[in-house]
Order: sequence, then C-alpha cells, then structure tokens
Amino acid sequence: MEDAVLIHESYDVDRLREDFPVLEQTVYGKYPLVYLDNGASSQKPKQVVETMEKYYYHHHANIHRGVHYLSQEATTQYEVARDKARDFMNAPHSREVLFTKGTTDGINLVAYSYGRKYLQEGDVVLVSTMEHHSNIVPWQIVCEEIGAKVVPIPINEAGEIDQEAYASMLGPKVRMVAVNHVSNTLGTINPVKDMIALAHQHGIPVLVDGAQSAPHLTIDVQDLDCDFYAISGHKMYGPTGTGILYGKEKWLDAIPPYQGGGEMIQTVTFEKTTYNELPHKFEAGTPNIAGGIALGAAIDYLNSIGLDRIAAHENDLLEYTTKALLEVEGMRIIGTAANKASVISFLIGDIHPYDAGTILDKMGIAVRTGHHCTEPLMNRFEIPGTVRASFGLYNTRAEADRLLEGVHKVVQLFG
Ligand code: ALA
Repeated sequence: MEDAVLIHESYDVDRLREDFPVLEQTVYGKYPLVYLDNGASSQKPKQVVETMEKYYYHHHANIHRGVHYLSQEATTQYEVARDKARDFMNAPHSREVLFTKGTTDGINLVAYSYGRKYLQEGDVVLVSTMEHHSNIVPWQIVCEEIGAKVVPIPINEAGEIDQEAYASMLGPKVRMVAVNHVSNTLGTINPVKDMIALAHQHGIPVLVDGAQSAPHLTIDVQDLDCDFYAISGHKMYGPTGTGILYGKEKWLDAIPPYQGGGEMIQTVTFEKTTYNELPHKFEAGTPNIAGGIALGAAIDYLNSIGLDRIAAHENDLLEYTTKALLEVEGMRIIGTAANKASVISFLIGDIHPYDAGTILDKMGIAVRTGHHCTEPLMNRFEIPGTVRASFGLYNTRAEADRLLEGVHKVVQLFG
C-alpha cells in the first residue's frame, strides 16, 4: 500500500498529458474533453505518431523482399518492433510473436487454424460468460462447421468466473479454453494463471484474450504458461490495425496457416506448396509495416513510464471514482470483483445508459454506452447495457470529478 502511495505521488500525469495533443481540446466549443473511453481505444502519444510519420517520410519499402537498402532498413525496423513485443510479453522467441491486425484477428487465426485441425464433432470450446463477442463468435463459426459447440463458464454476481464450475466442466471433450485476462465490460482481472494450470492438467490448451490487460498489467506468457495470448495495439497507445498474437512454437508448428499468399510460403508449385518458417508462415501479404514499427514505439512509451506505475495511478482513479459514484442514489455498479482493472460499468436507477451517455457527452465527457460487445454478459445480468468509464494513463482525479458532476446532471434530468 505504501509503495502504491509513493508511486502515485511521483506520477507526473500533467507531464504525460503533454504527449497527447488530442486531450487539449474543448468539445462542442465549450467543455474541455474528458476522455474516459480507453477500453474502446486509447489516444496516441506524439512518440507513436512521430514514429509513423518518420517511417513513411524516410524509411518505407516493402519488407523481407528486397535486396536494396530501404527494404533492408524497413525489415530491420519491423523485426526490432517484433523483438520489443516479445520482450513486452516475455515470450521466449520472436518466432512465436505474430503481427496481427488486433486481438480479433489473433483470435480468428487460432479459431480457424487450431479449430480446423483439432476440433471434431461433439467437441467443446469453453469460454467465459464475460467474453467479448470476438472471443465467442469466431469459435461459434468454426464449431458450427464441424459440429462442435461453444459452452459458457458461469460467473457470479460480482462478475467473477465460477472456478468450481470451471473445474467441473473440464473433460475429454473440451479441446480449448478461451478466456479474457481482463473483462472489457466489468474490469474483472481473471485468475488466468490458475485456470491455465487446471486446463493443462487435462491436456487442454488455453487462449487468453489480452486486449484489455495489455495497457494495464505486466504480461508474462511464460509465467502464465498460456498457449496463445492475443493483444491489440490501439488499446495500448499504438496504432489501429495492429496487434500481436503470441503462440507456443509447438502449436504454431502444428496448426496450418490462416491465410495464403506472399511471404508465408517456402516454395510454390501447382502440385504442392510448402510453408515458410515461423513467424512468416502466419503473415501472408504485405503487413501494416508502419503500424508494427509504431506499435514498437508504443511499447517503448509504456516501458518508459512503467506498467506498475501506470497500474498504481489507474487503481487510484478506479478506487476514487467507484467510492464517489456509490454515493449517488440509485447507483448500481456492474462488476464488483475483488480484483479489478481500470473499468467502471454502471447504471443509475432505471435511466437508460444511452440517455446518460448522451448527457455526459454534451458535457464533454466521453464514455461508452451499450452492451460493449458482450451481449451474453448483459443477458446474464438481465440489463440492456451499461455506461462504462474506462481509464488510461493520462486521466486525472479532476476528470473523475467531472464525470461525477455529469452523473449528478443526469440524475437531475432523468432521475
Ligand atoms: N472491445 C472494445 C470495447 O470494449 C471496443 O469498447
């Protein structure tokens, strides 16, 4: 606790905000922007944008293909970014680190490639009730083709996975467990390390959706011992359309490529094609080179601050805001897990989330409203949606106060 206080006091949020020009604006010509929609996408620091600009102005060429100077230079920069991602996730080898378009893309890759090879009729893919649609639907599509099924692991009222139920659901028909590390809607930090250990006792691989954990928690894929771990660049202060999929080499060697095309092949004849070595086997076509390099810059940026310091700052905001919101009459917080990160979903009496979100927006406060791509979770709580405030490294207590002010306005108008 003392450490957390020290970290919090030494965290210069005003200085960090200078890196994000977008935060300086007023909206509707009047209100300073309060950006609390980081769960959907975070803003980009100058360091990331300038990396992209520099790349396009001075270094662009296609990678892995040219003997010429620029191509070699671009290839080196791209591969250096891959190494940064490897270190960020503590992956053993860069060949286990695949560039993707984002978490959704990474999960689709695993669902199709692993699913088509290993799923059989009657098999089961276990997902939690709090999964984002992107960790449900790809599995449903592949299961439907094969005659397998996606089965949800129940959660409790606080929004925590029912671990007893989970343990009882593991069995010989289960071919994959796919769970998020942090819930985008509830903020719950799931005990994925224990869940992975349990699944492995049954010989079942585990995919972790790390879209919401990457900007907030230190990821260590070796410590977790996960089989796959997918993250998105745009939620961790990097460019849109970028992401990383970590996969254990034994799986990436065993499963077929996801897409065919240039770069992923070794030799092509009309009789037979052989595939390139890892990671290129899964990287068909010209990738988002600038995005990948700038994702490396986002990782540098996070490292320069320190994820533990970011987490301490965001936890302070989470506690401060939760406590204040709970004083509002009719306030219901959806997601009260003991272990939470950076997200508060709430409802006020029977005020529709959309109405609340619209008033907050008119006051310059950007939150997300709706089902947050987690409709089964909304059904579990029997609610139409929530208002969600999600914090990033640049948010402040003053902004939390503005949210509070907005919530009081909503109550005044609709309560
Ligand atoms: N998955 C993103 C969110 O939770 C878009 O808002």
